[in-house]
Amino acid sequence: MSEVEKLKQELKALNLEYAKIREVPAEKRGEFGRDLNAKKLAILDAIRQAEEAELNVAVEAIDITAPCGVNEKMPETFSVFQGSLHPLMTELDRVTKIYQLMGFDVVESRQLDDEFHMFDSLNFAKEHPARDGYDTFRTEEGFIPPAHTSTMQHRVLKMYREKLTRGEEIAVVVPGRVYRNEDVDATHEHTFYQCEGVYVSKTCTMGDMLGILREFFEKYYEQKLNIRTQPGYFPFTEPSLEFMIEKPKSLGGKKGDFLEMLGCGMIHPNVLKMAGIDPEVYHGFAWGGGIDRLVMLKYGLKDVRYFESGDLNFLSEFK
Ligand code: DAH
Repeated sequence: MSEVEKLKQELKALNLEYAKIREVPAEKRGEFGRDLNAKKLAILDAIRQAEEAELNVAVEAIDITAPCGVNEKMPETFSVFQGSLHPLMTELDRVTKIYQLMGFDVVESRQLDDEFHMFDSLNFAKEHPARDGYDTFRTEEGFIPPAHTSTMQHRVLKMYREKLTRGEEIAVVVPGRVYRNEDVDATHEHTFYQCEGVYVSKTCTMGDMLGILREFFEKYYEQKLNIRTQPGYFPFTEPSLEFMIEKPKSLGGKKGDFLEMLGCGMIHPNVLKMAGIDPEVYHGFAWGGGIDRLVMLKYGLKDVRYFESGDLNFLSEFK
């Protein structure tokens, strides 16, 4: 028990003595009372001093101006935890480097966007059910944490359209963090990463797009791959495709094991028009796909939730 606590108990006991005052003969009461009061004051004084002493000890123990290690006895040996880049950031860097080597510029997407860039500029008709598929979060002010990196298409087209008039093409990739109002499980996260691609020129075709995508995936997984497409639907591309790769043997795949990696297609004329690009003269293609999925396949990860978990055991495996 500390000195202060001991004194406080004494004080409690003393307070009980006051009740006895009634039993003391009248002529002795004055003296009895004075005696109790004096004792009480002495204890209160002692408590104050003991409390100050405790505080002083505490103040002496921490000298906040002292250099590191002066206040504490250092252990003989100790380990320093060295941080590292998050695996998604390392891989995102690899992804953008591959595209950069193919001549693409890199523009980062936003983490808060608006209705226009999320839907209208991408040719989603008002009230169209396709909007539901991208139902995401909203701030009280009506801003939208984007559900895909396609929100950047309109900005990129406007930002780069001058290049077209100089006879050059638009070739940009947009990595970014996206959000969906999902029930989280091993394959769904509310927060994940995507990379968008946008290409516009006078002569480009869907064949060019498939060539670029194949080249990207073969570089990323460092091997030849079988690819496949199937029809898809996105309001901002026409036609729209889903792009798949055959899961390589080296990554645990069997023949015919095709995985959908991204959505893509020829940019819808309305999307070009809204960005001030004449769809009679120019054509474009675009694609967008999840980075988490790409990385999970590469490292054989079974649960997407690891990425946002902050689990140091998991993270330290990627140092
Ligand atoms: N934004 C779509 C999604 O997240 C993927 C996508 C499809 C992006 C087609 C595109 C595209 O650029 O052309 O589901």
